[in-house]
Amino acid sequence: MSTMVGTPPPAASREGIRDALMVVDQRTGKSYDIPISDGAIRATDLRQIKVDEEDFGLLSYDPAFMNTASCRSRITYIDGDKGILRYRGYPIEQLAGKCTYLEVAYLLLHGELPRPSQYAEWVREITYHTMLHESLKKFMEGFNYDAHPMGMLIATVAAMSTFYPDARDIHDPSSRRKQAHRLIAKVPTLAAFAYRHSLGQPYVYPDNELSYPENFLNMLFKFPADSYRPHPAIVKALDVLFILHADHEQNCGTHAMRGIGSSRTDPYSAVSGAAAALYGPLHGGANEEVLKMLREIGSAARVPAFIEEVKKGKGEKRLMGFGHRVYKNYDPRARIIKQIADEVFEVTGRNPLLDVALELERIALQDEYFVRRKLYPNVDFYSGLIYQAIGIPTAAFTVLFAIPRTAGWIAQWEEMLLDPEQKIARPRQLYAGEPERSFVAMEDR
Ligand code: CMC
Repeated sequence: MSTMVGTPPPAASREGIRDALMVVDQRTGKSYDIPISDGAIRATDLRQIKVDEEDFGLLSYDPAFMNTASCRSRITYIDGDKGILRYRGYPIEQLAGKCTYLEVAYLLLHGELPRPSQYAEWVREITYHTMLHESLKKFMEGFNYDAHPMGMLIATVAAMSTFYPDARDIHDPSSRRKQAHRLIAKVPTLAAFAYRHSLGQPYVYPDNELSYPENFLNMLFKFPADSYRPHPAIVKALDVLFILHADHEQNCGTHAMRGIGSSRTDPYSAVSGAAAALYGPLHGGANEEVLKMLREIGSAARVPAFIEEVKKGKGEKRLMGFGHRVYKNYDPRARIIKQIADEVFEVTGRNPLLDVALELERIALQDEYFVRRKLYPNVDFYSGLIYQAIGIPTAAFTVLFAIPRTAGWIAQWEEMLLDPEQKIARPRQLYAGEPERSFVAMEDR
């Protein structure tokens, strides 16, 4: 016996029920009207569907959240079929073309673009929170010289919660705002210190005279004895990359941020968890994997053979930087990154791996395997080529994703905390293990 789902009869025949799904439970013969709102039914409305009073009620089963909305959000809008991305209603193309990253971070957190005085105050707040507690530097020194920069970032962000115990006052708006300033300001400093640590070079302290991206580049690349001034085209490109990575609605890392935050933990611990989710090669770690892949392919001539290997790999071997859970069209961020890559290469010289990437894209976009599955280049496909041209080591690429995403994580975390519908995140399971059985003593097994 099964439960059938169908479209309800015309509304006129069923007084008062206009947007509803009629479900007929063939086990009992009973029918139910499940209200539809914003194109969704509430999974908890299914619980009334029971065989008898003892029955727990019908669950929805959705591994990997393929078709489940877990929140209402006003932050980021994506139309994956059309390739549309907007922050707070503004198209990503306009924000990338006209804003600074800090303006966008303000927009994500406050819901509106800042007026000049608000922006000046916001930039001041961020700038004056970029210094790290000296003990965090000592903490950093405990890592091996070859520790992965993401591992260092995840651990040091978590450690920050011990330096700011006031962060546990998550219901106090002024405390939340202060942690937002600290996180957005200090994550680049942590990232740069992690990089310097891996080189065995002295840390470069933040410089309050510099803009957000300039300061980050300065902390990465300045030698104490030399003066350093990054090329304006590089500074601009980095700022645009930061804008493109600032938020992306309910992806794996953001879901981790909300899930961890839902137990009312402090935001440093939650950002650390979100960064850990981002680290994986199917998520933000893909930018590092793309570069490894392009190096492994080596030349445009070897692209067709590599594509064949991916197709034969049946999902085991993937074309990194391709495909997306939501975009079934060209990722709009990849399109913008491709444009800025040209501007960066004019300054740094053309990255020879670009030819391999372009050939991969050309062949994949006309290959039946990729066309049928709607696999297009995503944000990670071209970003690594720019990072590499700027001089950032491959292992640090995902850190460059985590820095700007911090603003998105905090905006999503705060939205979750203020949403009266949200509670501690706690999915159900379908138990598939052994039924009850009796314990067997060790000597009898
Ligand atoms: N190369 C080859 N085949 C692929 C790829 C790929 N990059 N991506 C998906 N497929 C295939 C997959 O094997 C499956 O084929 P089949 O239907 O025959 O089983 C089909 O396409 C659907 O894939 P899926 O794994 O069910 O899709 P998903 O929505 O669960 O995964 C994804 C999305 C991004 C994890 C996946 O496309 C992927 O692994 N891409 C490579 C890693 C990558 O670039 N990640 C960065 C994502 S964008 C940045 C971010 O926000 O994280």
